[in-house]
Amino acid sequence: MQHQQVETRPYDDQRPGTAGLRRPVATFRQPHYLENFLQSVFDIADLPDGATLIAGGDGRHFNAEALQTLIRMAAANGVTRVIIGRDGLLSTPAASHLIRHRRADGGFLLTASHNPGGPDGDFGIKFNVASGGQASEALTEAIYARSRSIGAYRICTDLAVPPLDALGVHAFGDCVIEIVDPVSDYAALMQSLFDFDRIRALLASGFRLHFDAMNAVTGPYARHIFCDLLGAPEGAVQRATPLPDFGGLHPDPNPVEAPELLRAAEATGGPDLIAASDGDGDRNMILGPGGLVHPCDSLAVLAAQHHRVPGYREGLPGVARSMPTSRAIDAVADALGIPCHVTPTGWRFFCNLLEDGQLGLCGEESFGTSSHHAREKDGLWAVLFWLDVLADARRSIPELLDAHWQRFGRHHYLREDWQIADADAANALVEGLRAACTPGAAPPRGVHSMRDFAYEDPVDGSHSEHQGIEVLLDDGSRIIYRLSGTGTRGATLRVYLEQHVTAPEAIAQASRNVLAALGHTAASLGRIEHYTGLSAPTLRV
Ligand code: G1P
Ligand code: ZN
Repeated sequence: MQHQQVETRPYDDQRPGTAGLRRPVATFRQPHYLENFLQSVFDIADLPDGATLIAGGDGRHFNAEALQTLIRMAAANGVTRVIIGRDGLLSTPAASHLIRHRRADGGFLLTASHNPGGPDGDFGIKFNVASGGQASEALTEAIYARSRSIGAYRICTDLAVPPLDALGVHAFGDCVIEIVDPVSDYAALMQSLFDFDRIRALLASGFRLHFDAMNAVTGPYARHIFCDLLGAPEGAVQRATPLPDFGGLHPDPNPVEAPELLRAAEATGGPDLIAASDGDGDRNMILGPGGLVHPCDSLAVLAAQHHRVPGYREGLPGVARSMPTSRAIDAVADALGIPCHVTPTGWRFFCNLLEDGQLGLCGEESFGTSSHHAREKDGLWAVLFWLDVLADARRSIPELLDAHWQRFGRHHYLREDWQIADADAANALVEGLRAACTPGAAPPRGVHSMRDFAYEDPVDGSHSEHQGIEVLLDDGSRIIYRLSGTGTRGATLRVYLEQHVTAPEAIAQASRNVLAALGHTAASLGRIEHYTGLSAPTLRV
């Protein structure tokens, strides 16, 4: 095979964000844009000779073309085996598992997660390392630095990539391309964690499950696991065919993007468990009769109920949450007598702790939950965890949730997103808050303390600064401000509101009502209107 060296010029905008490089498809279509980024990864990742790589994605627009380029460049960069999910599909947790399971040296995940797809939507690439986890901050920074100075990339232009729609092994010179079933290894992993017989019995007893794959990657996984293996009726899994544009949907499972699921949960006589996952299958939304189980509560309930589930019966060494995630999980960790680690936003910060055996469960408020079984968050895993807990507890979701709040109190929680056209204004706003955090600065009235969250990784000692402004108020409530690292246009200010209550009347209230006043406080403390001209958030989740 011919290895070609192609000259190129650097782009200056290839710094990966919270989870990989995400850009509009049109940006990726610029000449050599994709190739530059891939070569920067190959140059920095330091793969061994004869490396094995996993590749696959959420099936969005541009995936197929990007895979062709990736395969040709992998071969030219000394990779001798590329393992690809059939049709180029691999959910993010399944890819993470496959890297570990096949002892690969890393993997490329072609996804922009929950961002919209299609020609006018977004595309993305994430590089995961041999542990199955996301590239560290140091590695992503080094990749970015490389992308700023790159002068050439390597590619095998004459490699005729085989059709990806059939399983098989194809050799091209020194490089083998193996097309695998994207579902089976992942399904086997799930069977090793959960009591499938018990869940099958629950579903056979009339328990109604409704899973919405949002026209994205989890469709084939959910059909196989819920219908083939667990006996749920076909109709239990909806929108199960992955589409390149997600059928025009924003494949983000939350009450704003999937209001019909919320309505179905709130209606009387609805399903016993409604769930959905996002574009690449790592997020989860859980709803029960009455409404949403907030992801912060979901994490806390699963931790409190872990003893019911075979894969977790030996106990949890510790748990973790991202800083803006509610402190509901802290209360459970306290009761269990285990540590609760607090990390910056972004899944990659859990990876070292998971790899080091310090975590059982971990999660983020942004509909992401997982455990030591993978190095990514895992949407279907969370649904199975809930099903297994419900099967054992023989109680409904609202009953379990109520009992949890009786015991631990309720952490009312809400996230506001402010879409700001001018990124400089957003930065100035955060700078303003940061200035108020400097030691010696008198806290504003009603504020107990403020900090600019920094993190030292207990495993590798690395430091991450400026990870969000955390404000603790005198009444115990909490506000956090941070800028999104996944957006592709303008800036998104995220404001997180949290208040812990224990009185039964306060527990029963809607979080929106409980947190309304705190929302006003957050707007005025942050001087949001002053900096941005906006008087209300774009959305509340
Ligand atoms: C968002 C979420 C974060 C999550 C990330 C990737 O990042 O807030 O919890 O890890 O997406 O799914 P953000 O846009 O806030 O930087
Ligand atoms: Zn995702």
